[in-house]
Amino acid sequence: MGNGEGAMTTKYIKWTPAGGFDRDELSEAAQVIREGGLVAFPTETVYGLGGNGLRPEVSKKIYAAKGRPSDNPLILHIAERKQLDLIARGISGKTEKLADAFWPGPLTMIFEKASCVPYETTGGLGTVAVRMPDHTGALEFLKRAGVPVAAPSANTSGRPSPTKAAHVREDLDGIIDMVIDGGDVGIGYESTILDMTETIPVILRPGAVTKKMLSDVIGEVVMDPALMSAGRDRPKAPGMKYRHYAPKADMIVFQGNLAAVADRIQKQVQSYVCDGSYKAEEIGILAAEETAGSYPEGQVVSVGSRKKGTVGKMIYGALRKFDELHVKIILSESFYELEQQEAIMNRLLKAAGQRTIDV
Ligand code: TXA
Ligand code: MG
Repeated sequence: MGNGEGAMTTKYIKWTPAGGFDRDELSEAAQVIREGGLVAFPTETVYGLGGNGLRPEVSKKIYAAKGRPSDNPLILHIAERKQLDLIARGISGKTEKLADAFWPGPLTMIFEKASCVPYETTGGLGTVAVRMPDHTGALEFLKRAGVPVAAPSANTSGRPSPTKAAHVREDLDGIIDMVIDGGDVGIGYESTILDMTETIPVILRPGAVTKKMLSDVIGEVVMDPALMSAGRDRPKAPGMKYRHYAPKADMIVFQGNLAAVADRIQKQVQSYVCDGSYKAEEIGILAAEETAGSYPEGQVVSVGSRKKGTVGKMIYGALRKFDELHVKIILSESFYELEQQEAIMNRLLKAAGQRTIDV
């Protein structure tokens, strides 16, 4: 992967909630964006790979850095509400209400694009995705940059999204100009995407802003049916059709009563070892903190606590961990009882290429 020009040196700078930025380094990061370079930055959801979203050649550079298909559109990140009027058309009363309620925050909205937004940024579509991240460091950086910043998740295409700067380094070191290290992100999975170009807005990707939260503010919203159909329908967010968020190993999600699931996973491990399909150390188990101790065999990775609500935050880090452990198959618990189950199970099932076993 890379730009084919030989590695560049990626500069790492720090942002902390208490200390903010070193002023000079913030200016430098903003300057890199204005000059057409690429800067990875933290948001409350995942790290983004940012560049000037109004310049076609910069969007092309973003696709190249990620190794991403160029039909997969980018989200424009803004720091102030008034920037929306420059890049989007047909802003409705519903949009105003949602922006008041959820911006800054993990909600991306899709509008008809204004002419200044290049088709290179929107993957050839006449619509544009926009969000205002709820992260002080990101907002400060975006404000300084002064332009809408196109930013996909800062991972190599096909790998799990980065939730810490070390993940960005694994994928993009030597390929991009700068990384702003803001520590661990707060949410851990990508924003909710809501298509505002339909009369009844459509959720194209579930996220931390749930269907219920949206309909409490604007009334009826619907889920894109393609999200539920395990690959049969074509999703309207082009990115949702790829098997991304994926670890290198094959993966199976076990669904059903939790105690039965843990028991069934354990039996599956035994049968793999017994029939020679896999050695115990080649089998990964994705489990909640509460059940992680109950598996005698296999490489167990804890994905956080069901009770403390940390599963979302740790899910991508856990999937990356399995790559480091070089397992060949991952058996995963499921998390349907959580409030954010729609978003979390969407990511897990995509990572598994929709392979499930009902217990
Ligand atoms: O939380 C997030 O949204 C993160 C952070 C960095 O802000 N960004 C992110 O970007 O997840 P990315 O590029 O990994 O995912 C963008 C998704 C893709 O599935 C893409 O197809 C969809 O948004 N998308 C973007 N523009 C669209 C449009 N005009 N119509 C439909 N889907 C669109
Ligand atoms: Mg992504």
